[in-house]
Amino acid sequence: MKIGVLTGGGDCPGLNAVIRAVVRKLIQNEHEIIGIREGWKGLLDKNFENLTLNSISGILHRGGTILGTSRTNIYKIKDGEETVKKNLDESGIDALVAIGGEDTLGIAAKLYKAGVKIVGVPKTIDNDLYATDFTFGFDTAVNIATEAIDRLHTTAEAHNRVIVVEVMGRHAGWIAVYSGMAGGADIILIPEKPFNIDEVCETLKKRHDRGKNFSIVVVSEGAKLQTDDATDKDGSFILSSMKTDAFGHVRLGGIGNVLADEIEKRTGFETRATVLGHIQRGGSPTAFDRVLATRFGVYAADLVEEEKWGYMAALKGKDIVAVSLEEAVGQIKTVDLSLLEVASTFFG
Ligand code: F6P
Repeated sequence: MKIGVLTGGGDCPGLNAVIRAVVRKLIQNEHEIIGIREGWKGLLDKNFENLTLNSISGILHRGGTILGTSRTNIYKIKDGEETVKKNLDESGIDALVAIGGEDTLGIAAKLYKAGVKIVGVPKTIDNDLYATDFTFGFDTAVNIATEAIDRLHTTAEAHNRVIVVEVMGRHAGWIAVYSGMAGGADIILIPEKPFNIDEVCETLKKRHDRGKNFSIVVVSEGAKLQTDDATDKDGSFILSSMKTDAFGHVRLGGIGNVLADEIEKRTGFETRATVLGHIQRGGSPTAFDRVLATRFGVYAADLVEEEKWGYMAALKGKDIVAVSLEEAVGQIKTVDLSLLEVASTFFG
């Protein structure tokens, strides 16, 4: 068969490890592998390259993606689906391996329903993709954020400051909870539990009253403020920009600075904010992510061999299993509040 491979959405350490695994496994059975450049955009533009043993050599440890990526949504483009199907036919591509998060795999699920032979691999540093225990990229992001928190601890302590660390996490606070617990954060704020600034300041004051002159607050970019409406369980975002992407997501970020200003104003403690941003997505994947990405890639290649279209590789416990794309993209995997409860033992 002639198999197309693409990476879509935000990049994520481990993408190259998946590409390498898919190509190495499928080439063993004489399949031809076509790299599709920049996600779904490459299928609209017919921007392809042959993937060979040589072209995927030496990429296991490299961050980013050798194929490039984009947030192109073919369903927001006139005749997008028809163009993709026509381009697949004209190029003789029989099937696709789509590596991406909820948005990319959401398109994959729709294309599968429209008759395209497709399998998926789950990717996102946010770890919020449903139907898999972990996505690759998350462990790397957590390690980067934990190292940053360790470093911020020493400077916060030296200056008697509060430091607010803003980490990624659009709908779910996985990076904040894991890095916050690993880094010994004094408060962790996540989208799953809207917060009250007065309560945050009270917790910090109590900590400082017991003789601690510095604090670390870890906040997800998507953390929300409690609103005055007691029935509103969702809270409201703090945003520095109202821009949206092709999937309608607002560009998050800005909560760290707003929170730091409020904390300083209300407590009198000198406060600074550090926004980790895309540093969390850059550079080499951890060993854990290289192994997970490799297992996902080999499994996805097996799904292709078995012609098990419409499925995605997923981690359940210690095993890699197949789950339907439809199930995977139906909802978001949010942090279990009992985990935040454990983390809160160390707050204040
Ligand atoms: O989807 C992963 C993610 O890193 C989110 O955590 C973040 O909100 C978003 O991507 C940032 O997107 P962009 O790279 O388009 O700024």
